[in-house]
Amino acid sequence: MSSFHQRPLGQSGLTLSAIGWGTVKLGRNQGVKYPSRFELPSDADAARLLDTAHECGINLLDTAPAYGISEERLGKLLGSSAHDWVISSKTGEEYIDGVSHFDFSAEHTRRSVERSLKRLNRDWLDIVLVHSDGNDVDVIENTGAFETLAKLKQEGYIRAFGMSTKTVAGGILAARESDCVMVTYNPGHTEEQPVIDECLRLNKGVLLKKALASGHLNSDDADPVQTSLDFAYAHKGVTSAIIGTINPQHLRDNIAKAKRSLA
Ligand SMILES: NC(=O)c1ccc[n+]([C@@H]2O[C@H](COP(=O)([O-])OP(=O)(O)OC[C@H]3O[C@@H](n4cnc5c(N)ncnc54)[C@H](OP(=O)(O)O)[C@@H]3O)[C@@H](O)[C@H]2O)c1
Repeated sequence: MSSFHQRPLGQSGLTLSAIGWGTVKLGRNQGVKYPSRFELPSDADAARLLDTAHECGINLLDTAPAYGISEERLGKLLGSSAHDWVISSKTGEEYIDGVSHFDFSAEHTRRSVERSLKRLNRDWLDIVLVHSDGNDVDVIENTGAFETLAKLKQEGYIRAFGMSTKTVAGGILAARESDCVMVTYNPGHTEEQPVIDECLRLNKGVLLKKALASGHLNSDDADPVQTSLDFAYAHKGVTSAIIGTINPQHLRDNIAKAKRSLA
């Protein structure tokens, strides 16, 4: 396994590779906004992607109940090596028969984490994020999701929790009330930078989603992946950029380019 930049996730005690593997495309190809249609990778291809990620020094996998069959597939593919990875999953969004439903209640939050533990074949989850419906502040203040995750952390079922937010106010509140925040941040979407600033100030973890603009890259740029990764890592508050790919060459390129940005 080659070495790759590892960083602490705030004060959580977890150490993450500066790139994580995002697994939407492992489990879901309906109702997604990628530039082109795709088939889910076969088990053999998915296993090769995991091997490549591991060989390149990636230790972080990001999944969610809302990513179709991503959690189940990861659980089967990882088997007994499931504890060798840092796994981040989510709660709050369910994607059933092509439609998203949200449930942030205490009961659902606990059931969802128990189900993720089973699917992923783990005794604990490293990170659980509330999967926002856009009403970040209301979800944090009025639903019981954060309180339940804090209890699950005390009980030893999760190591860290936070929220994948969609608003600046919600991201800042999540930074204050939890261990980490997942935000959208790329050269074409800088609105949520104040959340990363706040996480840096408070020493909380930051995970980036859509660092490559979900594949809608700037075609006027000779190397938009390098530009995006340089941009992501220029902010000292960023812990890890979770990048989704089912193309092994892209995975290797992203790691090589991340190394260049971080050199
Ligand atoms: N919590 C949330 O609300 C939320 C929302 C969105 C995403 N996420 C998480 O964040 C992860 C990343 O987000 P994302 O998948 O939307 O966006 P992303 O990582 O910005 O972009 C992924 C897209 O970029 C393409 N790509 C990757 N590397 C490339 C390269 N070197 N050259 C050209 N194209 C490349 C991929 O296609 P190929 O497969 O062809 O490489 C894929 O279509 C997700 O997988 C998920 O884990 C969370």
